[in-house]
Amino acid sequence: MGKEEKELQNFFTQSENSIDGLYWDSKWKSNQTGWDVGKATPAITTYMAQYDNKNSAILIPGCGNAYEAEFLVKSGFTNISLIDVAPNVVDKLKEKFASASQVKVFCGDFFDHQGNYDLIIEQTFFCAIPPNRRNDYAEKMASLLNINGKIIGLLFNKIFENQGPPFGGSSNEYKVIFEPYFTIKIMDECYNSILPRANSEVFINLIKK
Ligand SMILES: C[S@@+](CC[C@H](N)C(=O)[O-])C[C@H]1O[C@@H](n2cnc3c(N)ncnc32)[C@H](O)[C@@H]1O
Repeated sequence: MGKEEKELQNFFTQSENSIDGLYWDSKWKSNQTGWDVGKATPAITTYMAQYDNKNSAILIPGCGNAYEAEFLVKSGFTNISLIDVAPNVVDKLKEKFASASQVKVFCGDFFDHQGNYDLIIEQTFFCAIPPNRRNDYAEKMASLLNINGKIIGLLFNKIFENQGPPFGGSSNEYKVIFEPYFTIKIMDECYNSILPRANSEVFINLIKK
């Protein structure tokens, strides 16, 4: 098992029902954030670099340190919303983006969030959701998107040895979850993953039905 995988797996051993806001906040408070890669990942920055409409309403749920939002601000995007359930990271985000009027920061549960977005960016959030809530995740994502809105980002395409989070899976399982709500434009092995995640992710581009 590589260092990155060990770090990832150091954030669990909980029953699925106890993976709540308190759980995540305690991870942030005690700096047990093995999932945090310290930058926006190339798969997402490459996609967003060719995304034309800089005024699209963009949501990043379970955003953590929201490196993607820093990239989006630098790239001229004007309407970025972030939500995370953990006050310990949200407080930091509010400071980080205090002078960026393009960025709204919400502290709360994604499943209670209300809004209308053109694009939702998925980066290591789906794998944080207990598998018994994956259908709720897909339904909620669809409900937050405008017509033709899309989710783009990365999902793990591997089974983790230990109980999650992170919760892994395969594209075959994911297709069954998303197909009721989304047209699956892309769900393919990611060619530009960061090295520690090479050959273990799919890039997704899912269009709301
Ligand atoms: C594995 S971390 C990923 C963070 C960030 N996206 C990254 O890649 O570094 C999952 C994040 O989702 C947040 N989270 C978990 N469940 C959530 C929920 N129901 N609503 C909002 N945020 C949630 C956690 O606090 C945590 O910051």
